[in-house]
Parts: sequence; structure tokens; C-alpha cells
Amino acid sequence: MAQIIAEVSRTFNEFLLLPNRTRTDCSSATVDLRTPLVRHVQGERSAIELGSPFTSAIMQAVSTPELAIALARNGGLSFLHHNQSVEDQAAAVRQVKNFKAGFVTSDTNVRPDDSLSHLVAVMRRTGHSTAAVTDDGSSGGRLLGLVTSRDFHPQRHDLDGPVSGRMTAIAELPYAPADITLSEANARLWDQRLDCLPVLDGEGRLQHLVFRSDYADNKRFPHQAVDAAKRLRVGAGVNTHDYQERVPALVEAGADALCFDSSDGYSDWQAQALTWVKKNHPEIPIGGGNVVDGHAFTFLAEAGADFVKVGVGGGSICITRDQKGIGRGQASAVLDVAAARDAFRERTGQYVPICSDGGLVHDYHVALALAMGADFVMMGRYFARFDQAAGAKLPTRDGFVKEYWGEGSNRARNWQRYGQGGQGLIFEEGVDGYVPYAGDLNEGLALTIAKLKTTMVSCGSTTLGEFQSTARLTLVSDQSFQESHANVTLREAPATLA
Ligand code: IMP
Repeated sequence: MAQIIAEVSRTFNEFLLLPNRTRTDCSSATVDLRTPLVRHVQGERSAIELGSPFTSAIMQAVSTPELAIALARNGGLSFLHHNQSVEDQAAAVRQVKNFKAGFVTSDTNVRPDDSLSHLVAVMRRTGHSTAAVTDDGSSGGRLLGLVTSRDFHPQRHDLDGPVSGRMTAIAELPYAPADITLSEANARLWDQRLDCLPVLDGEGRLQHLVFRSDYADNKRFPHQAVDAAKRLRVGAGVNTHDYQERVPALVEAGADALCFDSSDGYSDWQAQALTWVKKNHPEIPIGGGNVVDGHAFTFLAEAGADFVKVGVGGGSICITRDQKGIGRGQASAVLDVAAARDAFRERTGQYVPICSDGGLVHDYHVALALAMGADFVMMGRYFARFDQAAGAKLPTRDGFVKEYWGEGSNRARNWQRYGQGGQGLIFEEGVDGYVPYAGDLNEGLALTIAKLKTTMVSCGSTTLGEFQSTARLTLVSDQSFQESHANVTLREAPATLA
């Protein structure tokens, strides 16, 4: 007869945190959100630490290079999806690794013999008022000059005339070598009263432009997740089918961490694949999952997983529970796996971080997941709402929405994630839909981080480790859940439905 687990499967909505005593030294300004990403010896530091405990889902609709850049600048990490060719995924990794804060690849470029009217059209398209004049009109051509919207007047100058007639030629232009740092570039911008400093390689080809405002912008991100060479960190998803080709290419491209992406990671295939990666590429940390119980965690940790992702069936686009009757309430799953992680640490001296993946609906769910033992969270719906995510932004009667579709939907057809026997998706395990548009990631995530910090302050913690070890949680009844919400007629409807 089947074994019945007596404990009810519970989700985040069923819990609340009790405030703990808040010390005078405990404030949002003193809260430190650093968290370990990968396996390490207990008491030592993880080789990769995140500046904030957020990762973006391994999904086409979510983790673009643009989102990965924005998230890493805010201390988190994206896992670029693997439902694309090995070459395309490696190129996406390179795009993030090559990003240099403040060093902009010029998007407004013309040739010296292009007309001023062509220049006006290019500037209108990009919205930028500084153009690079290069021999071939590309962003990486030999730089011949710069021309800005202040260098010509549409009524005073003949717009049929060439750009070369109004540009500042390279001979009179200050420029910098490729190895200049951002703070050196900024010093030159101010000392020489420049608005823009071109950075050229040894052959005079344009590499980047540095603008005054970008230096100030970079200062906004004190907790960026960067490697030893100060390049932004990025992760990549892999699967148990083509990992022998995909893993080396991603390592070569500079990925900082990989993660097996599977709706059910408690399998011999994943253990074998982990063993292969550990043997052939011991230099790259790799996570496993997804799992929902302690046995599965221990199985993957023993197979070599550097972190383990928790969650089956709770994702906002997920219909796995309807279709297959498999899964577990996310709170129960995280609590069970966290206990197994702690037992594994006691037994082996190794700390294997865990990630709560999917089903985080409200900002406070992040705090609950972390309090229950997650070292970091992974979110799809949350990030899909931002400008930087892949889905198209579409107008509706009430504002804007962004497209968001599951990896198990017919749109994504990620058969590598959904092992349904054979190559192809036999039935859908995800839906294709929309989420409310939420603007820029930097602003949205700042708000979520502010809420997380104040929750931690109420719970008397300044670090995530302290939060986990001292948090007190209470189950809520249906009645007390009602009490949690406003109980008056609202003056006006909320601006957006999150
Ligand atoms: P969300 O943050 O609630 O939107 O959940 C995102 C998570 O759902 C992802 O990180 C995956 O683990 C999972 N997921 C992605 N696509 C699908 C799908 O099509 N079906 C079921 N789960 C999915």
C-alpha cells in the first residue's frame, strides 16, 4: 500500500512571521542580504556569493541577457535558458560577461559620407544625440569622428551635406585606450570637460563610449554580483540530454554557474549528469533539481550538486499538478529540504545551499521562503513583468501587460525539461498568458528589497543567516487570513494588480 505522509502540504499563504525584538543597531541600512550560491565547507565562505538572494527563472520568457545584466547589477543572478542552440546560449552568456558598466556600445553610428538628414533619422530612431562616425558606419569600425545634435542646425545647415562637414574629427578628439577603467574615464570626462569619451583599440577601432552620466549611474549599484575580474556574474541552465556538448561551451563562454533544469530532478539521469560534470568540469559549480523532499535533496547533494532547487507544481504558469498529480505545497517542500540540508551539513561538514523556485506571489513570500531556510529564491512571473524580460509588452484596456509562458507550454515546447518519454512534448505542463507590466527591473526590485529588509528588521535580523535561525512562523487560519487584508471600502482602486 502507498505510504501516506501525515503532514499536510502547505504553501506560503498559510504562514506569517512573528516580530522578534528589534535591537537599536538593526535597521534597513544595516541589513546585509549577501547569501551563498554554491556548496562550501561549513564555516567558510561560498566561492560565489550573491549580493541579494534573487535569481531569475530558466525560462525563455524571463532570462534574457538584458535581464541578467540588470539583475546581476542588483546583486542577483539570472540563469539563461537552454531551450536554444548551444551556440546561441553561449553567445548570450558572452553578452553578459562582456558588459562593462558605463562602457556603452555605440548604437548611433554613421559613415562620414552619410548625409545629415540620414544622421537625423538615426538619432530619432535611437533617441540618442551623440553619434560615432566610423569608416564602415558600424559600432566597431575605425573611428573618424563624433557628431552630436549640437553640431548642426536643421535650418542653418544643408541636410543633404555629408556628416564629415560637421563632425569633430578624430585628430581633435580626446580618446582613451581599451584598458582604461571607469573611474579613470570619469576623471578625464571632468578634467577635460567632455560629455563623451570614446574608447579605441590599438588599431583605432571603436570599442565603447563612456558618458558622464553613466559613471553616476554605476554608483547606484553597490552590491553587484561580479567575478574576480569585476565582470557581472551569469548562470546558465542545462539539461540531461545534451550536457556533454552544452556544458563545455558554456564554461568556455564564461558562465559562472550552471543548473540542471528539470521539472523532476529526483532521477538517475540527473545524478549521472552531475557525476559527469563534476568529473569533466570540476571548475564550474552546478545546481540540481527540482525536488520537494529531503530524500531527493540528499540524493542530488551526494551526486555532487552545488546547490539544489526546490519546487514542483507551484509555478504561476504551471499545470503539472492538474496534469500529473505531482507536487507539494512550496512551504512544506522548502521546510523539508532545509532540514535535509542541515542534516547533510552536520554529517559531512558541507553546506549545500537551497533555492525556493516558483510560486512566490507576493513580495512577502520571498521573506517567508528565506525564513523557512531557502538561501535564495528563483522567480519567473515576478521578473517577466519587467522591461528587461523577453515577452512583448502589449496594451490593454487597463494599461499594459507582458507575455509570460511556461517552459512546458506548447509555445516553449521545452521537452528537455519535461521528461515525458522521448523527444517532444506529449501534453502541456504549462500555460501561455500575460502578467501585469511593471516597468524597469531596477525600480521594482528596489521596492521588493526594501520590503524584505524591513521584514528582517521587524524580525530582529541583520543577516539572512540570523533571519533563518531566529525566525518564528505561525500558521494562519482562514479567519485570520481574512483579518490580514484591508476591511474598508477603498477610496480608489489600486493602480495595478500585482
Ligand atoms: P513563477 O515564479 O511562479 O512564475 O514560477 C517559475 C518557475 O516555474 C520556474 O522557475 C520553473 O521551475 C517553473 N516552470 C517554468 N515553466 C513551467 C511550466 O511550463 N510548467 C510548470 N512549471 C514551470
